[in-house]
Amino acid sequence: MTDRRGGASSGGGVRGELKQRVKTGRGRTLSQKRWLERQLNDPYVARAKREGYRSRAAYKLIEIDERYKLLRPGQRVVDLGAAPGGWSQVAARVVGPSGRVVGIDLLEIEPMAGVEFITLDFLDAEAPDKLTALLGGAADLVLSDMAANATGHKKTDHLRIIGLAETAAEFAREILAPGGAYLAKVLQGGTESALLTDLKRDFATVRHVKPAASRADSSELYVLATGYRGTAGRTPEPDED
Ligand SMILES: C[S@@+](CC[C@H](N)C(=O)[O-])C[C@H]1O[C@@H](n2cnc3c(N)ncnc32)[C@H](O)[C@@H]1O
Repeated sequence: MTDRRGGASSGGGVRGELKQRVKTGRGRTLSQKRWLERQLNDPYVARAKREGYRSRAAYKLIEIDERYKLLRPGQRVVDLGAAPGGWSQVAARVVGPSGRVVGIDLLEIEPMAGVEFITLDFLDAEAPDKLTALLGGAADLVLSDMAANATGHKKTDHLRIIGLAETAAEFAREILAPGGAYLAKVLQGGTESALLTDLKRDFATVRHVKPAASRADSSELYVLATGYRGTAGRTPEPDED
């Protein structure tokens, strides 16, 4: 590994700081070398390490929360796709002991004070009931940072992530208290109009958010719906019960 003084950079190292380069070889592929270099030069990775967050993703939620004031003490929060636990940490710190945070992921998550984790596919038929039982009441906030492993095929990846966001939105409609909010990862570029139409019907405000901590070269984006209207009084769709 060699250091060299980096110049201006976008999204990677910070201007004027030493930029770390990684040598190829040692059995690393070029894409592994690029990933490692990006991690080593990413200011959010360094900050997460310094401030004790489990992921750089924690800063995406911190930033969105600073802007839209989603988290408050005493709230009930569901974190979908929670591993390794950065968003849950942020949520648990704000909601405090009078609140409750429940997270789910395909991957096992190291236990965390103030958070209950389930290791399960959120798409499993049992997942909604298990999360609801653990939460012990209606939710104030449903978060989804879920992302399926990228296939590299843009259209497939997009459809998969929208599918996850749609299932999360369906669950949010079941579990949210009136006034509650839903925040989910999507990708830029079409095919999410059905999701947006449904959200606009059920929430007072729907917007897209791209926090600074979300890499500029990634098409990742978040959809934020606030002011849940509640299901009472809503005319069911023809295919709903
Ligand atoms: C970007 S990571 C989440 C990072 C997290 N917000 C944090 O701050 O630590 C996305 C996660 O979604 C999870 N995931 C993807 N599909 C899932 C599914 N169907 N059910 C549960 N978790 C899923 C992945 O296992 C992965 O851990």
